[in-house]
Amino acid sequence: MFQQVEQAPPDAILGLNEAFQRDPATDKINLTVGVFKDASGKTPVLNCVKEAERRLVQSEATKSYLGIDGMPKFDELARNLLFGEEHEIVTSGRCATLQTPGGTGALRVAADLVKKVSANVKIWCSDPTWPNHPSVFRAAGMESVTYPYFDPATNSVKIDEMLNAVRSMPSGDVICLHACCHNPTGADPSPEQWKQIADAVYEQGLIPLIDFAYQGFGDGLQEDAAGLHEFCRPGCELIVASSYSKNFGLYRERIGALSIVATDEDAAQRVLSQAKICVRTNYSNPPAHGAGIVATILEDADLRAAWESELTEMRDRINSMRRQFSEMMSAKCPQRDFSYLAEGRGMFSFSGLTAEQVDLLREKHSVYIVRNGRINVAGMTDDNIEQLCDRIASVL
Ligand SMILES: Cc1ncc(COP(=O)(O)O)c(C=O)c1O
Repeated sequence: MFQQVEQAPPDAILGLNEAFQRDPATDKINLTVGVFKDASGKTPVLNCVKEAERRLVQSEATKSYLGIDGMPKFDELARNLLFGEEHEIVTSGRCATLQTPGGTGALRVAADLVKKVSANVKIWCSDPTWPNHPSVFRAAGMESVTYPYFDPATNSVKIDEMLNAVRSMPSGDVICLHACCHNPTGADPSPEQWKQIADAVYEQGLIPLIDFAYQGFGDGLQEDAAGLHEFCRPGCELIVASSYSKNFGLYRERIGALSIVATDEDAAQRVLSQAKICVRTNYSNPPAHGAGIVATILEDADLRAAWESELTEMRDRINSMRRQFSEMMSAKCPQRDFSYLAEGRGMFSFSGLTAEQVDLLREKHSVYIVRNGRINVAGMTDDNIEQLCDRIASVL
């Protein structure tokens, strides 16, 4: 069986990270992987997480299985964080939430569910998008296609082209949207553009699948949900994949949630019963630890306040690095406009570097950037930013 198996290509981003680890240079800089780093270049465990874990160790009474849809308290808190506990979508009971292994798990269960209940629909992803989106959707048997999104000439959303594309998508298809901090471009729609997108999506009879991997990394927990809330309309159907990898720093614990909004409670329960079959035949039921941490923090007023303040610190650092990067690049290359670096949101930005320039930076200067030019600004520190800007300026 295995003798004839071909070598698969390495993951584009994780492969580069491995090359970075092997590079003996002492002044190497890694802007590849999508994890937050603090001012000392570390990906820390949040203090509120450590405290929640201490409490969990003391109170945990069993390691028996969770339900197929996870911990009910976690599901409720995850839903409230998205919509607000007073929202009609929550109070009506027309939203079913399942705890999933990370945001990726939520996306995969969503795709399995859509395939199960509506076999022939396509899923539309932004051009460009997180490379794992089409891979996950195709692994579930869905056809994944793209809509225009990012204009490299203006470093912003091509809203007119995007809306025209939405208006020609077949009714019933699914459109995947990044709620905030678009990965890989950092370019999000404005509030007015979100309204136009939601109008067009619903007029066309599409189902929005909103990928919410960075809530709190852009402008704030509530502010970042503004795009999602444009889609929360009476009688709407919508799917949300949330991740707590970034905003709780729980990457390796694999904790996320899938929320499915149906037109009424009865439909939501029926859809939940189908989603549970997708989970049962895949990983059976989710791991407990990450959900225990998130629920402990969100449930306790003090821990929640501590979390929000640590999240604000992470966000402030990202936005401060964006501003410094933009100012420094403008000073070093005055003939180019780098204002978009400061205007974008989240950890990622398109640098405008070509694949050849990216290769040169890696080979000559030990600066590691994804070949499409995506930069993780959280990889910058006060100590390396000047050197980094000099090296980028030298290849531009
Ligand atoms: C846009 C986007 N969606 C989903 C995910 C998945 O996150 P998780 O690690 O929780 O599976 C990521 C992670 O990088 C992401 O960037």
